[in-house]
Amino acid sequence: MANLAVMTVLLGEGDAVILDRLDHASLFDGAKASRARVFVYDHASPESLEKVLKRTRNYSKRLVATDTLFSMDGDLAPLTQISELTRRHGVWLMIDDAHATGVLEERPGQAEIVMGTLSKALGSQGGFVCGPKALIDFLVNRARPFIYTTALSPAACGAALAALDIIRTEPERRKKLVELSARLGGELRRQFPTNSKFIAPDATPIVPFWTGSAERALEVSGSLQVAGVFAPAIRPPTVPKGECRLRFSLTSNHTPEDINLLLGALTHNLEAVS
Ligand SMILES: Cc1ncc(COP(=O)(O)O)c(C=O)c1O
Repeated sequence: MANLAVMTVLLGEGDAVILDRLDHASLFDGAKASRARVFVYDHASPESLEKVLKRTRNYSKRLVATDTLFSMDGDLAPLTQISELTRRHGVWLMIDDAHATGVLEERPGQAEIVMGTLSKALGSQGGFVCGPKALIDFLVNRARPFIYTTALSPAACGAALAALDIIRTEPERRKKLVELSARLGGELRRQFPTNSKFIAPDATPIVPFWTGSAERALEVSGSLQVAGVFAPAIRPPTVPKGECRLRFSLTSNHTPEDINLLLGALTHNLEAVS
């Protein structure tokens, strides 16, 4: 809803919105609802973005929008290069920080608009938009998805505020999450190299485990569940056909023993099948 709000308020016919191919569905939906023309650049590719920026010079307003941390691949957008390009071309940059909020310490580069959710690291519900005061005033007064719906419940706001306090005062949680992510990514690469080809070099808490077919993803996910590990099978339409995977998501409450449990269950499963 936050993405829909920003895009429908800022853009309209005659404008252009430029998205990473792997941006979250809500960015694509917001872009379509805005009636701006939608352009897509290759995933995490500043070169491809630059080509699109050159091609769209004649549109009256342009907005580039990217996930900060991609929800199904767990990699990071090259924000330094992207924001350098958007500045040079005089285009707004919006980042969808959903999976990065409370997880990443810093974002390189500069975005005019930061949108995020309270639903992931903050464990609550709802979304937010940060930006220049004029933009926020404009959204509050004009954004239909914000105005014509009941506001967040006090419980959701209270939970999110409490979570923000924890994020501020307990940085050791974030540090532990980075350590766990690096450990899981490293072990998977070592033990299951063919399934690990899409694990990003950055240690993030979203770790994809490649299976290829949907059947295989469901099979491995099912057997992990029996072993006590919940790892959902990600299939079309969330990812393209043939690019199915399991998505492991870590939290700071996980332990090295949990990772060992997962690795043991995977070994057992893959041996049983082959
Ligand atoms: C990148 C991204 N943006 C937006 C959303 C939507 O967040 P919510 O589920 O809080 O509406 C999600 C997750 O579902 C997401 O991964």
